[in-house]
Amino acid sequence: MAVVHQSCVGYVAEPFASLVAGYPGDDVYPQADFRTEWGPVFHRGRLDGSARVLVLGQDPATHESISRRILVGEAGQRVQGLLAKVGVHTAYVMVNVYLYSVFGQAAGSRHVKNEAIAEYRHRWLDALLVGTDVTAVLALGDLAAKAYERWARTQPDAAAALHVAAIRHPTYAEGSARASGRPLAETTAAQLANWNEHLDDLAAHVAAEGPTDLTPYAAGWGPTDLAPIPEVDLPAGAPGWWRDVAAWATRQGDDKQTKRATISVVVPKGARTWPAL
Ligand code: URA
Repeated sequence: MAVVHQSCVGYVAEPFASLVAGYPGDDVYPQADFRTEWGPVFHRGRLDGSARVLVLGQDPATHESISRRILVGEAGQRVQGLLAKVGVHTAYVMVNVYLYSVFGQAAGSRHVKNEAIAEYRHRWLDALLVGTDVTAVLALGDLAAKAYERWARTQPDAAAALHVAAIRHPTYAEGSARASGRPLAETTAAQLANWNEHLDDLAAHVAAEGPTDLTPYAAGWGPTDLAPIPEVDLPAGAPGWWRDVAAWATRQGDDKQTKRATISVVVPKGARTWPAL
């Protein structure tokens, strides 16, 4: 029997059709600070009103630039694992603070108060959070927490009804280890301790779709802590390995310009199922 695949139908219904038709370009997102050349990446998850949790991430990276959905790479799989713990497998919708990948460390912080960027982001958040069945918001990292608070001031009634879990960004551990010189094991333990603090409260504020597992994270990532991205989240025809935990897209280049211009996509070893020649 033929395999029946599921896929994300994209931006067919309003207000999302109009939102993507009118996305801001490099007049709003300066090219010095954003990799606008890779195009905007808008969301991942349900746009049909069935989402119960909204995840607010930061900005798309390499895997997202290729798959055209956000939070698909390792950061996304860590979040997917966290959602699975509270019994949420597909009833979520995710958007980022920024439509485009941030270029340079300080660029993200520089634009967190940018009016034009916020105005477009607020239109998405209004569509996803005002008068919908979303009960909880998971904000990933400081920029997402700030962006959410800014939106909440514009929609105080809707915001009052939402539980907000502002957690460390899923790749906080790597960034913090790089910036501070502390061992990765230490920063990972700090990140997971922070996630543990939010687990029970988050579970109490979302309607689980399936069994929950509120066993706290250990001090390091366990084998089942990352969850693969569901097929239904990606555009039709996306190869299965785009949803794999193994990394498959990296920036390459010996200088900044080449690296900005180049994403290398390599089929992970485990997905090379073709016959040897
Ligand atoms: N990818 C995203 O789309 N968002 C993040 O916050 C991190 C990685």
